[in-house]
Amino acid sequence: MRLTQRSSNVRVSSGVKTLDEMCGGGFFKDSIILATGATGTGKTLLVSKFLQNGCTKGDRVILFAYEESRAQLFRNASSWGIDFEYLERQGLLKLFCAYPESAGLEDHLQMIKSEITEFKPSRIAIDSLSALARGVSNNAFRQFVIGVTGYAKQEEITGFFTNTTDQFMGSHSITDSHISTITDTILMLQYVEIRGEMSRAINVFKMRGSWHDKGIREYTISAHGAEIKDSFRNYEGIISGSPSKMSVDERGELARIVRGVQQKTD
Ligand SMILES: Nc1ncnc2c1ncn2[C@@H]1O[C@H](COP(=O)(O)OP(=O)(O)OP(=O)(O)O)[C@@H](O)[C@H]1O
Ligand SMILES: [Mg+2]
Repeated sequence: MRLTQRSSNVRVSSGVKTLDEMCGGGFFKDSIILATGATGTGKTLLVSKFLQNGCTKGDRVILFAYEESRAQLFRNASSWGIDFEYLERQGLLKLFCAYPESAGLEDHLQMIKSEITEFKPSRIAIDSLSALARGVSNNAFRQFVIGVTGYAKQEEITGFFTNTTDQFMGSHSITDSHISTITDTILMLQYVEIRGEMSRAINVFKMRGSWHDKGIREYTISAHGAEIKDSFRNYEGIISGSPSKMSVDERGELARIVRGVQQKTD
């Protein structure tokens, strides 16, 4: 497959307002987004919000699920106020659930392609890619990811994939996974320990062709879905897994240094 896809400037919403703002107005329509994080960090929630948003715009969407059953996905979604059953009855959502081990990767790719050809969705999600990587060679997995992303781009479909990492705290290397270079946007989800509580953090790690927020924001989950706040502004060391709050003095000192540098450059 050749790299000849057109590239559009059209943006689509992630379904989470603050995340759209962090991405400079939403994801690009023909792009591939990867949400990576440990188990329970909220990847399936982001997938559900992204697909629900497509449906509210009258678009057809498919969720390829390799970790959870239909019943579990329906229950998860309803705990965030999303009615997947209704969207499916409306003919806007299609849920495709399979065990990763039920077929070889080439067959999984064929199944994904034929579902797309038949249903003609505008958005697809794969939850999770890492489940499909179990027990297969790196090369075969890379070929599979290239096959899916190439096909999605050719059909001008926005693809949202998830990747479950083994590490709970601290930075996990995403550069050595085979998928990071094939995806256009990477959202990094993490657990952070602050004042004896496990909080979640979100960061737009990269976004090709667009300005994006570089900040690490707090990400909370409730019955209303996802909310992104600015509460980690005065912390440092979040990505390394040992956050500490910057004191007023330190912040003042930092501001003075920045001002000094600015004056020098003026
Ligand atoms: N209604 C709710 N209110 C508050 N928190 C909730 C609610 N529903 C789910 N959660 C939280 O969301 C978490 C699960 O989110 P999600 O399923 O998106 O994670 P995930 O990253 O997909 O995990 P996994 O890798 O295990 O699939 C739960 O661990 C729970 O803490
Ligand atoms: Mg999940």
